[in-house]
Amino acid sequence: MKQEVHRIQEETLAELQQVSTLEALQELKVKVLGKKGSLTAQLRKMGGLSPEERPIFGQVVNETRDILEAAWIRREEELSQTAMLKQLEEEKLDISLPGVSLPRGHQHPLTKVIEEIEEIFLGMGFQIAEGPEIESDYYNFEALNLPKDHPAREMQDSFYITEEILLRTQTSPVQIRTMEKQRPQLPVKIICPGKVYRNDDDATHSPMFHQVEGLMVDRGIRMSDLKGILLSFSRMMFGESREIRLRPSFFPFTEPSAEVDVSCMLCGGAGCRICKGTGWIEILGSGMVHPRVLEMGGYDSKELTGFAFGMGVERIAMLKYGIEDMRLLFDNDLRFLQQF
Ligand code: DAH
Repeated sequence: MKQEVHRIQEETLAELQQVSTLEALQELKVKVLGKKGSLTAQLRKMGGLSPEERPIFGQVVNETRDILEAAWIRREEELSQTAMLKQLEEEKLDISLPGVSLPRGHQHPLTKVIEEIEEIFLGMGFQIAEGPEIESDYYNFEALNLPKDHPAREMQDSFYITEEILLRTQTSPVQIRTMEKQRPQLPVKIICPGKVYRNDDDATHSPMFHQVEGLMVDRGIRMSDLKGILLSFSRMMFGESREIRLRPSFFPFTEPSAEVDVSCMLCGGAGCRICKGTGWIEILGSGMVHPRVLEMGGYDSKELTGFAFGMGVERIAMLKYGIEDMRLLFDNDLRFLQQF
């Protein structure tokens, strides 16, 4: 019997060197050490031995099992190592190849300009307000002192959805919406960036474009406050040495109204192609909020005053970056966008 165990040990050790896969190794293990394995079968024979012989034989079987198990572990390590090397070879992993870097995008020039304007006004204590792009005739026109037959409505060629609903032509309706929401709290001090829509399409007009509206209402607000805020804004946006000038103008929702020009950022005021030789560039419309608009917003026009302004974002982006055709901003041509 001892010899039999010894034979199993020798045979198995020899076979171990023959197996070349982990699967075959596992099969061999079952064949020898499994429940129905050849070595396990030897243990069953112990019943036929005398009580003295039994422990001796048991020790022989155990020793063989320990030897075989140790050999197994070694062989298993060898085979796993070979399998891994083979896999690496097959995958032809070349860790010396340089990595592939992902192209990194950046913000659209209009988004950059809007965020820059927001930063400047947030720094002066303004809050950011929003309103809907699909607007009622009431908020877009009537509450801004533009009744139905008012000729000034023709300044803005509108996209109507129904007789009472249109795509907002300006961000000014947010003035009324903000006052309604905030009253009677003071001060009202907001800017509102957003999309607006008009039936216009050429090199300097797009049917969809962006405006930033501004509104400040409080006790004792004067035109000099408007001028000071816009001068600070212009210097932060276009450079420390900028000057501004106010030209009389007309808007139904402000009285008096003014168009604001900034000294040309290209020639500094001497006169060039961009400012068409005048030294000044128009950047926005503004004025003192019309008492009727304050009343429409629910504020007492005998106690309070305010100023408002509205600027075109595309125009500012074009001035800032020297873009000559507004449509480039909406073509999404990467050769253009990658320049910013
Ligand atoms: N809403 C005007 C426009 O789109 C711009 C404007 C002018 C806004 C004067 C204002 C303002 O708030 O006071 O042409």
